[in-house]
Amino acid sequence: MNLTPAIVLIAASFSLISCQKYNYTEVIEKSLLFYEAQRSGKLPANNRIPWRGDSMLNDKDGDVDLTGGYFDAGDHVKFNFPLAWAISTLAMGGIDFKSGYTSAGQFDYLLDAVKWGADYFFKCHTGETELYVQVGDATADHNWWDLPERWTDVRPTYKVTAERPGSDIAGETSALFSAASILFRGINDTYSNELLDHAKSLYEFAMAYRGKYSDSVPEATPYYTSNGFADELVWAASWLFRATNDIRYRTDADDLIVEYDLSSATGFSWDSKISGADVNLYETTHEEKYAKRIISFCDDTIDNTPRTPKGLVFIFEWGSLRALSNVIFICLQAARMGINDEKYIDFATSQIDLMLGDWGRSFVCGFGNDPPIRPHHRSSSCPNPPETCGWSFFNSELPNANILYGALVGGPNLLDEYEDVRNDAVKNEVAVDYNAAFQGSIAALKQFSENDDGENGDNGGNGLTFNYQIALGLLMVQVTITFLMQRNR
Ligand SMILES: *[C@@H]1O[C@H](CO)[C@@H](O)[C@H](O)[C@H]1NC(C)=O
Ligand SMILES: *[C@@H]1O[C@H](CO)[C@@H](O)[C@H](O)[C@H]1NC(C)=O
Repeated sequence: MNLTPAIVLIAASFSLISCQKYNYTEVIEKSLLFYEAQRSGKLPANNRIPWRGDSMLNDKDGDVDLTGGYFDAGDHVKFNFPLAWAISTLAMGGIDFKSGYTSAGQFDYLLDAVKWGADYFFKCHTGETELYVQVGDATADHNWWDLPERWTDVRPTYKVTAERPGSDIAGETSALFSAASILFRGINDTYSNELLDHAKSLYEFAMAYRGKYSDSVPEATPYYTSNGFADELVWAASWLFRATNDIRYRTDADDLIVEYDLSSATGFSWDSKISGADVNLYETTHEEKYAKRIISFCDDTIDNTPRTPKGLVFIFEWGSLRALSNVIFICLQAARMGINDEKYIDFATSQIDLMLGDWGRSFVCGFGNDPPIRPHHRSSSCPNPPETCGWSFFNSELPNANILYGALVGGPNLLDEYEDVRNDAVKNEVAVDYNAAFQGSIAALKQFSENDDGENGDNGGNGLTFNYQIALGLLMVQVTITFLMQRNR
C-alpha cells in the first residue's frame, strides 16, 4: 500500500505540535550561563560556573567601590557603554518576552543577570552629575593573557561629569535602569523604585550636559567610540515614558528626534538605539509614525541586504551574527505588536536557525552540532589553576580549557568563510553585547512557537493555544491511523 499520504499527515501533525527545530530552552539557559561566566567581582555562593572565582576585587577609585559587573568580551575591561546597552536589551527581552523565559524555566536567571548588572551600575552612579564609565586600561588589559582571578593590580577608572559630559552613556545607563525597573515591578517594588530614581536622575544629567563620553574619556577609544548621543537621549526618554507614563518624556523623545534630525534614522546596537526607542514609543502610543520606522528598518534588512551563499543576512563583518541578531530582535518586537508578524517571525526563525545549526554548524559555544571550541575568550581558554596561562594558550590550537556555554561567536563573513581559531577576534570573539538581543530573540521565538498569533503581551504564556495545537496534532494522528486501517481492510 502507499504510505505517502499517511506520512505527510503525520509529519504535518507534528509540525503543528511545535515549530521549534532547535531547542530554544537550551539556548536561553546556556546564554544565561555565558553571562554568568562574564561576571566580575565577588561571586555569590550560587555561582554556576565551576572554573570562575572572585576577581578584580581591587576595582575602586579611592573609597568608591567599583567591583562587580561584567567583563566586556574575551578581555577583562569593564566597558560600561556596551554593557549598559546589553543589560537594557536583556531587560527588554524579559519584559516583552516574559512568557518565553518562563516557559523555558529561565526567568529567575534572567532577573539575576539583569540585577548583577544594575547593582554594578548603582555603584558607578556616584552623584547627580557623576558616573563611572570604564574600569581598566584596554592596552594594559590586552597585553595580558591570563585568568581574571590572577589580576591583582588596582585598575584605572574613568568617569563623566558636568565638565566632561557623556550624555550617551548617561542616557544609556538611565535606559537600563528604567528597563530594569519595569522588569522588577511587582517582583520587588522597593528595588524597582530604586532603579527608577537612578534612571530619572541620570536622564536629567544626560539632558543638561550634552556631549560624547568618548570625547570626555578618550581611553574608551578606539574600542567603543560613540557615534553620537542623540539616539541614547531618545532611547532613555522612551524608556522613562514606558516606565512612568509621564507625558514629558514622550514630548522630549519627539522633540529630540526633530532637534537632531533623526526622523529617518534607524539602528539597534550598543552604539545605536533609535529602533529600540521606536519599539517603546509604538508600544506606548500605537502611533503609525513609529511603526513605519520599524518597518523600514526590518524590511530594508530582510529585502535589501546582501546574503551569504548559505542565506545569512550580512550586515557587517566584525561580529556579523551579533549585528544580525540585533535587527532580528527589533523585528520580533514588531511581530509581537502585530506588525508584519508572519514575515518577521519567518525571517527570524530561518536566520536564528542558521546560527544554531542550519548553516552547517552551530555558532553557539557548547550548543548543538560542531560548536566553536576555540572562542577568543581569555578566561575559558586558560587551563585551570594551578597550571599557568600565557600567550602560548592564545596561539595554541587546543580547544579552550573550559566550554564557554552559550556564547555566540562573531560568525562568518559575506562569503561564509569561518574558522574556529582563537586569534581571529573578528569571527571568534564573544561579548556581552553579542548575546543580548540574540538571547531576547530566542525567548521571543520560544514564546511565538507556543503561541500561534504572535501577539502576546504579558498574559503569562498563553499555554492554551499550545494545548490546542497538541490536541489538533493528536487528532490528526488519529485520523491518519483510521485512514490506514480503512485502506488495509
Ligand atoms: C531542551 O533543553 C532543555 C534544557 O537543556 C532540556 O531540559 C529539554 O529536555 C530539552 N528538550 C528536548 C526536546 O530535547
Ligand atoms: C528587594 O530589594 C531591596 C532593595 O534592593 C532589598 O533590600 C530586598 O532584600 C529585596 N527583597 C527581596 C525579597 O528580594
